[in-house]
Amino acid sequence: MKFFIDTADVQEIRDLASTGLVDGVTTNPTLIAKSGRKILDVIAEICDMIPGPISAEVAATDFETMLAEGRKLAALRSNVAVKVPLTPGGLKVCKALSDDGVKVNVTLCFSANQAILAAKAGASFISPFVGRLDDIGQDGMELIGDIVAIYNEYPAFKTEVLAASIRHPIHVTDAARLGAHVVTMPPAVLRQMYQHPLTDKGLAAFMADWAKTGQSIL
Ligand code: G3P
Repeated sequence: MKFFIDTADVQEIRDLASTGLVDGVTTNPTLIAKSGRKILDVIAEICDMIPGPISAEVAATDFETMLAEGRKLAALRSNVAVKVPLTPGGLKVCKALSDDGVKVNVTLCFSANQAILAAKAGASFISPFVGRLDDIGQDGMELIGDIVAIYNEYPAFKTEVLAASIRHPIHVTDAARLGAHVVTMPPAVLRQMYQHPLTDKGLAAFMADWAKTGQSIL
């Protein structure tokens, strides 16, 4: 399972890259706005920090402009994955860029049928938004399970299921249990994954007992 970080905050990315556990980064217009930086600058900087795919989202909604934006983003660095919305125009862009060998992440996926369309359009990643479905009283994780099961029926589909809109560590556990290829999570969720009170308690006891021995390993 790959871990992507869902942020455009380069400090956070640099900090978490040092764990050696970060395989890629996803951004969206909201995260770029939050960074307060120009999209081309911040995407290039992230691409130089993390070798894995860095998703950069188009900002237009019509086919021609999205395609031009996608080509410009893809030309920035070889590890850019162009993110397009799950609309008829977005999927046309997905097909055109994928045919040119560019990785495409299809975002704003809320149904299994949308995910089937993205796979047929040659997407490298499909991003079902788990948390936003939960927010409206639907089971976001059920969608992850459905898409994984459907894709598994068709080995010709090369699209990876990228569980997005992750809100807490239980989402990560559930996505892993269901076989999602990738989870993109806010930095705080990755940090939370390390936490268990029994780890802290056990370590404190080991340290106290070790101190009593008066020994040093080095
Ligand atoms: O980047 C897409 C997705 O992860 C957004 O998450 O929390 O805004 O629903 P959220």
